Amino acid sequence: MSHLPAPTRYDNPSLYRRCGRSGLKLPAISLGLWHNFGGVDVFENGRAMIRRAFDLGITHFDLANNYGPPPGSAEENFGKILRLDLAAHRDELIISSKAGYTMWEGPYGDWGSRKYLLASLDQSLKRMGLDYVDIFYSHRPDPETPPEETMGALDHAVRSGKALYVGLSNYNAEQTAAAAKILRELGTPCLIHQPNYSMFNRWIEDGLTEVLRKEGIGCIPFCPLAQGLLTDRYLNGIPADARAAKAHGFLKADRITPETVARIQKLNTLAKARGQSLAQMALAWVLRDQVVTTALIGASKVSQIEDNLVAIQKLAFEPAELAEIERILAS
Ligand SMILES: NC(=O)c1ccc[n+]([C@@H]2O[C@H](COP(=O)([O-])OP(=O)(O)OC[C@H]3O[C@@H](n4cnc5c(N)ncnc54)[C@H](OP(=O)(O)O)[C@@H]3O)[C@@H](O)[C@H]2O)c1
Repeated sequence: MSHLPAPTRYDNPSLYRRCGRSGLKLPAISLGLWHNFGGVDVFENGRAMIRRAFDLGITHFDLANNYGPPPGSAEENFGKILRLDLAAHRDELIISSKAGYTMWEGPYGDWGSRKYLLASLDQSLKRMGLDYVDIFYSHRPDPETPPEETMGALDHAVRSGKALYVGLSNYNAEQTAAAAKILRELGTPCLIHQPNYSMFNRWIEDGLTEVLRKEGIGCIPFCPLAQGLLTDRYLNGIPADARAAKAHGFLKADRITPETVARIQKLNTLAKARGQSLAQMALAWVLRDQVVTTALIGASKVSQIEDNLVAIQKLAFEPAELAEIERILAS
């Protein structure tokens, strides 16, 4: 039976934050389909997560051509969920996809050429059963393709009606400034940047956030929970159903060192003192800077999405709490 979304889903207008200097607002928490939505995963679990997320006001779902495994299967599954449950709600959804990592064999299935980006976008639309995506990203900078060509392909995607906005992912500060200039001159401003950012990975603080602020580009940090490290998942070993225990998971067990666990435990104590779960505190922490529009979470269970959304009830930090986090991270 098709899904009837909760009538309460827009009851909290403060959930939505403006994306840079654009007309678009995004929910403070967005859901990505990198893990747990592929062909190897349980379809009904993924479907339940999308339905619950939408019921809670999460309007933004993030994909890429290669999400699975196998590559492409997350887009296929998402397309199926859209048809089954959300077909009547397309205009309430912000759906993104990307091209930039290896997708098919030969010289045209990787990196940043116009040939690859535009062919990949057509494939993504077909897999999801969509006429357009809301945001199309260059998934990573290509050191060998002129940025004018990659940005020209993004601009073309918008002009041909196959994307509404464009974004950059994994570009450093300098590459972002150069790409943003080209996009602005083409008349298709860069909407958003998608970098890895969490308490455990702070590279964007070293220049990128300043570029985003200046250019009016929104920011959607991925892995804000460091793939689950910044949650209660690994406080006492590696649970059998956790990402670090899965053969195809990107989080490898050797990341869970005694030093990291000691830091996670201290952060967990601080989160408890704030009346939050560690996941909620980690999300509030990435959202503390207004340049960050939305935290792009992943999830393996409906309950994690519910837990994470509660983060928005307490986003503010006391200076002493921020100082304590700095001390723990440096320990
Ligand atoms: N642009 C890029 O290059 C790039 C790269 C990576 C990711 N991304 C995007 O970012 C999205 C998020 O990445 P991610 O999945 O690594 O993000 P994440 O939010 O850092 O980690 C998600 C994992 O954390 C655990 N988790 C989440 N909420 C929890 C909670 N409340 N309590 C306990 N554990 C919780 C779950 O682990 P378990 O599975 O162990 O339960 C979940 O799978 C991706 O889906 C993708 O859209 C983009």
